[in-house]
Amino acid sequence: MCGIVGAIAERNITAILVEGLKRLEYRGYDSAGVAVFTNDGDLDRRRRVGKVAGLDQALAEQPLAGRLGIAHTRWATHGAPSEHNAHPHFSGDQLAVVHNGIIENYEALREQLKGLGYVFTSDTDTEVIVHLLHHKLKTDTDLADALKSAVAELHGAYGLAVISASQPDRLLAARSGSPLVIGLGLGENFLASDQLALRQVTDRFIYLEEGDIAEIRRDSVQIWDQQGCAVQREQVQYHEGAEAADKGEYRHFMLKEIHEQPKVVQRTLEGRLGTDHVLVNAFGPRAAELFAKVRNVQIVACGTSYHAGMVARYWLEDLAGIPCQIEVASEFRYRKVVVQPDTLFVTISQSGETADTLAALRNAKELGYLTSLAICNVGTSSLVRESDLTLLTQAGPEIGVASTKAFTTQLVGLMLLTLSLGQVRGTLDAGVEAHLVEELRRLPTRLGEALAMDKTVEKVAELFAEKHHTLFLGRGAQYPVAMEGSLKLKEISYIHAEAYPAGELKHGPLALVDSDMPVVTVAPNNELVEKLKSNLQEVRARGGELIVFADREAGIDNGVGTHVVAMPHIDDSLAPILYTIPLQLLSYYVAVLKGTDVDQPRNLAKSVTVE
Ligand code: M6R
Repeated sequence: MCGIVGAIAERNITAILVEGLKRLEYRGYDSAGVAVFTNDGDLDRRRRVGKVAGLDQALAEQPLAGRLGIAHTRWATHGAPSEHNAHPHFSGDQLAVVHNGIIENYEALREQLKGLGYVFTSDTDTEVIVHLLHHKLKTDTDLADALKSAVAELHGAYGLAVISASQPDRLLAARSGSPLVIGLGLGENFLASDQLALRQVTDRFIYLEEGDIAEIRRDSVQIWDQQGCAVQREQVQYHEGAEAADKGEYRHFMLKEIHEQPKVVQRTLEGRLGTDHVLVNAFGPRAAELFAKVRNVQIVACGTSYHAGMVARYWLEDLAGIPCQIEVASEFRYRKVVVQPDTLFVTISQSGETADTLAALRNAKELGYLTSLAICNVGTSSLVRESDLTLLTQAGPEIGVASTKAFTTQLVGLMLLTLSLGQVRGTLDAGVEAHLVEELRRLPTRLGEALAMDKTVEKVAELFAEKHHTLFLGRGAQYPVAMEGSLKLKEISYIHAEAYPAGELKHGPLALVDSDMPVVTVAPNNELVEKLKSNLQEVRARGGELIVFADREAGIDNGVGTHVVAMPHIDDSLAPILYTIPLQLLSYYVAVLKGTDVDQPRNLAKSVTVE
């Protein structure tokens, strides 16, 4: 959630650190700071509440120059967003630390360190780390040895970067539960919590693994594993263009990412479709052999990714005839789960670093699942590295905190999974598979048609500008689409929104409906549409205002209090992907009208790497 950047070079690294923070700002953005070992031989820092632009301004007023430094953008967990809680944290004037994650035993450590005479100046859990390290340096004078000894006393999750004024030839890092990557330059090296921060300076990376400690010098990198043994970690060359860091012609990253969906869906399908069937080995060379044994599917994910999993449950049971369960990761990880024999454990995640989803995967490995599959957007993520099988969505980096293109590409990946399981297990008719493969090929064009409704949806958004509450309704696989629509609206416009299966309305929520409560509905032309129409009548009879995204042939017409937006026709199985588009646009335009921070909504962070 927070972002870390570090650098050691022959040149001034302050601008590199700040640029790295700007690239990570979408992850956490309530305060930012930088600490540099200055050319005068001191450790100095600047910290500001708010966005990185504020820190940039502070540096313009009071510059910092040096060849070794660390920087951080924070998303508060312990202690309110304030300058004294912003990282880097110091112990004396010799030692600085930045930290992502949560130290669970910080209260005990704090008391212990206070007893040793340390004075705390923040409310954070992080400050115990820097004082503990300072204390360790009294006996272990080498910074790497002291860090190994200090992290052995930490419980919880951390990605750490450390610099010391007394050993300014090195930058130290430690990873446990929070990702870190080393960027390799020529005569200079870097560190970050996400390679995105370093693409301005290098395309060569080393990903630290769980328990690793690294000593990064200008011209060398030394890594020790969890057992303290020196190890070599693989170098990875990154190839993708820098397209994501740029909004291009769009006002916000979110709008750009919504409009990228035809292209990224196309990419997610590339190389994965045969003439009339899905290429099962898209999930890995052992996929066909493992999928043939699958009798059940358990899906675990969070937020938007969870909604994708909910859609997949309809598909897996309906098309492939496989029993499927789905649960949010933060619940799954803490309950006793009864595992059915031959169950495929599936995680879904944009980032692949979501703490709850990762923990659920790690638990699942102890529980006797047949095998694990990650549907993920980041090939180098922990989730991908720790899963047996992988399907990478090809959404490209998603910068807007509200997930859009990640969701639709996850749905494409889950449809590929459904068809693969049905094919391998012989539970899906070959003709149905061939038809859906053909429909998938047409999907990017259909999505383009839905995006062409942009201006119409912008107009509809005006109905929401003064509203405080909204209901989203859907039936069948459109119910999770309604849930996703309601999550988008509340995330970026701060309007209270709830989603219900349309048939549930009369069991309670109908009491809320009046002329101040817009009710948004998605209505493809399927066997449930007549039942949905009755639900809409129930709303109209109570004076509720309806906004219906309906198939042209669904027979739902404009009228007093009923605003119908006609949708292109699509095969019902793929309708959840298509009907997501107008709901994304609707949230976007409502947020723009309300003047909220669309790409970085309050209180949220892109990648939730803490519990
Ligand atoms: O990276 P992940 O897909 O694992 O993230 C899961 C959720 O945190 C994420 O989908 C979140 O709900 C988004 N902000 C929704 O727009």
